[in-house]
Amino acid sequence: MIAPSILSADFANLAAAADAVAGSDWLHVDVMDNHFVPNLTLGPPVVKSLKAATDLPLDCHLMIDDPDRWAPGYAELGAANVTFHVEAATDPVQTARAIRRAGALAGLSVKPGTPIEPYLEILREFDTLLVMTVEPGFGGQEFMAEVLPKVRTAREQVRSGHLRLFLEVDGGIAQDTIEAAAEAGADVFVAGSAVFGADDPGRAVEALRAQARGAMTA
Ligand code: DX5
Ligand code: ZN
Repeated sequence: MIAPSILSADFANLAAAADAVAGSDWLHVDVMDNHFVPNLTLGPPVVKSLKAATDLPLDCHLMIDDPDRWAPGYAELGAANVTFHVEAATDPVQTARAIRRAGALAGLSVKPGTPIEPYLEILREFDTLLVMTVEPGFGGQEFMAEVLPKVRTAREQVRSGHLRLFLEVDGGIAQDTIEAAAEAGADVFVAGSAVFGADDPGRAVEALRAQARGAMTA
């Protein structure tokens, strides 16, 4: 699945941005609070408006402090997947359960420096693992290939039946990096600048999908 990140779109024209990538799978919505990351984007009112403006499933990536308090609200607004950071959470299992009770998929995200081994058990309570392939906070950064062993480890857990998860990568995904991520076992690819920086965002989505598919079946 390809999930274009509206962080790289025109924030004054988000409905048009969603229209431009109508052929994608999820619309990735980066929520930042100026505390967990040094950037500030949008919150529930904008998610609510986006939900009304597009049929694309919303993939909310919460880069915020205290997700235990705030994450279920995004599920209540109709997000399809709500991902929060393990580094910020106090009780990730309870929060995942609250997200699921509110009708969304629950996702856990790890920053590049955060190992996943300590979380392999609690990941049974989640639907998505989002492995950050840049430091969270900004679009347009360079892909960190050194993070891919975490994707491989998670893919092995899925293959052997220990976990059932979407494996999502986020940060620096573009034509020259998506194949490495797909080969490592990712199956959801967030792309911000590679999509909304392109002349034709819709075609950029198709090109990325074709490349990822090629690498997954290789
Ligand atoms: C970064 C965000 C990403 C960002 C990716 O903190 O989580 O979703 O939009 O942007 P690109 O694809 O430009 O690296
Ligand atoms: Zn993101």
